[in-house]
Amino acid sequence: MCGIIGILGQHQVAPQLVEALKRLEYRGYDSAGVATIDAGGDLRRRRAVGKLVNLSDRLVNEPLSGRSGIGHTRWATHGAATEENAHPHQRGKVAVVHNGIIENFRELREELSGSGYIAESDTDTEVVAMLTASHLDQGMSPLEAARATLNRLQGAFALAFLFDGEGDLMIAARQGSPLAVGHGDDEMFIGSDAIALSPFTDRVSYLEDGDHAVLTRSSVQIFDSANRQVNREIATIDVGATVIDKGGYRHFMAKEIAQQPAVLGDVLNHYIRNDRIVLPEGMDFSQVDRLTIVACGTAYLAGYVAKYWFEKLAGLPCDVDVASEFRYREPPLSDRSWGIFVSQSGETADTLAALHYARGKVAKTVGVVNVGTSAIARDTDIALPTLAGIEVCVASSKAFTCQLAVLAVLALKAAQDRGRLSDAELARHLDDLRSVPALVNQALTTAEECRHLSGWLSEFQDVLFLGRGPLYPVALEGALKLKELSYIHAEGYASGELKHGPIALIDQHMPVVVVAPRDALFEKTVSNMQEVMARHGQVILVSDSEGIREGGDGVYASLTMPSGGGIFAPIIYAVPMQYLAYYTAVAKGTDVDQPRNLAKSVTVE
Ligand code: G6P
Repeated sequence: MCGIIGILGQHQVAPQLVEALKRLEYRGYDSAGVATIDAGGDLRRRRAVGKLVNLSDRLVNEPLSGRSGIGHTRWATHGAATEENAHPHQRGKVAVVHNGIIENFRELREELSGSGYIAESDTDTEVVAMLTASHLDQGMSPLEAARATLNRLQGAFALAFLFDGEGDLMIAARQGSPLAVGHGDDEMFIGSDAIALSPFTDRVSYLEDGDHAVLTRSSVQIFDSANRQVNREIATIDVGATVIDKGGYRHFMAKEIAQQPAVLGDVLNHYIRNDRIVLPEGMDFSQVDRLTIVACGTAYLAGYVAKYWFEKLAGLPCDVDVASEFRYREPPLSDRSWGIFVSQSGETADTLAALHYARGKVAKTVGVVNVGTSAIARDTDIALPTLAGIEVCVASSKAFTCQLAVLAVLALKAAQDRGRLSDAELARHLDDLRSVPALVNQALTTAEECRHLSGWLSEFQDVLFLGRGPLYPVALEGALKLKELSYIHAEGYASGELKHGPIALIDQHMPVVVVAPRDALFEKTVSNMQEVMARHGQVILVSDSEGIREGGDGVYASLTMPSGGGIFAPIIYAVPMQYLAYYTAVAKGTDVDQPRNLAKSVTVE
């Protein structure tokens, strides 16, 4: 899940490449590199390990000139984060950047070594440069050489090739990994997404699987896998250019948490107008016999919360699955069921593959997607935008709560279509849902208390999160956030399962965060809390004032949440989970927006 960029431009291209890579850094930040062709036609490259800033610094001391270039930001798959393994990979007269995995690279590497082309890195990508160089050495033209290489590659890739002495030529190819072409005025661009291209052009077309493109400054020719020239529609895309603005906050995450009342208001106003749920035509759940929600990471946990809503409100059986398990299990799917695919980026490889598996087997595929130009948004029958705006922090916050908001709307629509709610009940649930942005705003006031508690939490090695009902996935999300941001081991558990294992771990060294609004199940959760405290476990109770009054005796600390939201309370309770993780990470001094080893868009399996 690296990011790639290529530019045939009118200006010095190195700063433009770096600008685009800033927008792609969410895809990985183990190393970065650029290659350009200078005025003399020479292909040169600079690479640096670690964050993009290291490459920028290097380019200040060792600048690269030229108006044609390619760039890369890496999330390491094959080979450690070293300069040798950083892209672009250059062999002879060709340089290559790659996102994806070349599955047959060992076989190709062995074959090439027999002809004297010896690998210098541990990467799978280098074999693409070696193979192309070998084809050029045989006298092939750049296009023939690239095509001969593409014919040999197995796996997933988005690739860009640049050739020494060919300042007005770039070749790009896509198989499985996303690749956009940007059309400028006598300039041409390729990039992993439209956001990377946004500083340069808003006119974008997308390569389809098997396509390759031959670009000059003034033209682009796209060919399909049979080398037939094809047209790919050019769309005008508005992605804005504000991606790198922290808006006065110390971290993007702090900004994105604080944006939630506004973006939740936007998304709910989009789908609920004049007391009516407004969804695209075809969103009628009356004949649906089952839902299958598929996603990864935090998006999966949004789906998990929604399962409770669909089943309880709409009486609609709902499976929820992580995409990497779903796709290989090959589950039978009813042709009266719908598949719902939840993804912030809309590019997550496993979720996309799960969607492709389900297509044709289910009656309808629905995307709940934040990036409207993404593959999942394009490949689902109906794509519902989550309207969270660009989310930069690798750990998802506002995209998660906006996913929940859209799924809540869908659950109410399903309940309505299936006649499961009276008009009065529906109106009450709609009121609860519409109260969420204001309640999330109130929940933001837990920030200071969370900051205070995080100093204490940051001293522990392990933390347990407990929740029940739709708050159970919120407990899972609290644990996921804490581990990904602060590197503290954390687990989420269903409160009722405590006795079946995790209670063995409880002592004074394992704080337990209990997420429990004062609802019908509250008494049971209070009993679980008592069991923890009887074993010297230290509890942080996250509840409303009534819950804290009734169940707060003996806890180490409590976080007072606003009352309300009804069945949609999980959206509000996500906020203290985010703040506890955020401030614990700040206390530990970890890299909040770009935690180690993670990437925001996971485009490899
Ligand atoms: C990565 C990110 C998570 C995200 C998950 C799914 O693991 O770090 O924040 O929840 O991918 O991504 P998606 O774009 O499909 O929502």
